[in-house]
Amino acid sequence: MTEVTADTRVVSTIAELRGLLAERRAGGSSVALVPTMGALHDGHLALVRRARELADVVVVSIFVNPLQFGPGEDLDRYPRTLDADVAALAEHGVEFVFAPAAEVMYPAGPVETTIAAGHIGTLYEGASRPGHFDGMLTVVAKLLNIVQPDVVEFGQKDAQQVFLVRRMVREFDVPAVVDVVPTVREADGLALSSRNRYLDESQRMAALTLSEALRAAEAAAGDGLAEVLAEGAAAFGDHDDVTLDYLVVVDPETFLPVADDARGDAVALVAARVGSTRLIDNTTISLG
Ligand code: PAF
Repeated sequence: MTEVTADTRVVSTIAELRGLLAERRAGGSSVALVPTMGALHDGHLALVRRARELADVVVVSIFVNPLQFGPGEDLDRYPRTLDADVAALAEHGVEFVFAPAAEVMYPAGPVETTIAAGHIGTLYEGASRPGHFDGMLTVVAKLLNIVQPDVVEFGQKDAQQVFLVRRMVREFDVPAVVDVVPTVREADGLALSSRNRYLDESQRMAALTLSEALRAAEAAAGDGLAEVLAEGAAAFGDHDDVTLDYLVVVDPETFLPVADDARGDAVALVAARVGSTRLIDNTTISLG
């Protein structure tokens, strides 16, 4: 079934989407994919704008992927705002919104064949959310196969996701360029996230601790790793409502923690729980 909103078509089956894209490709159009789970915010719309710059046709997928949620996580309460999402995408000139039901993506129930994210998939986010990255890579692989885009957009906010997707694309010879867009922040520094809508006013204030910790880490980078970790962790001292899960500095090439005496570019990753909401953020730092 296809719903048409201005020039934006909402497509819910794989066959229909493939047919529509084949027509557009036959006319010489390039295709960009923006994979999302919906509940769109300005961070997603930055991905859409970039996709429009890079390709003739933009497909935004909206699918809350059950495979990447563990038991006790927020699969059931994850915000689902399809009408508002489609309206925003129509305003941004998106041609196709692919919004399949779970039965379309997984007609026989959870797939038996999955992509394993490897050792890095078990660290940081993967340590707190076992299986999350296997589920994420599995659905991204499916979406890449369904859409076969020339370019696929991801946000830098999910730095570990970006690392793992890039590696999968490289190792599986997927013929798509992975393009990464910088994190979009509120004026006070909070990284945009669909999960921010779970936060009440005081939690919203407490959530600023993540970006404050990253700023402190950045400021201490010239003094080396130990200072970065100490200053970053100190930012969490002031707030009872925020529980630090991890603050780690990784090598952007390997995504393994850097050595104590590391120098040069690195990525500081932070995750914390604010009330029952898990938030993540990251920034590039230059260790001196
Ligand atoms: O980043 C997300 O929203 C999801 O992990 C993705 C890439 C859409 C896969 O479900």
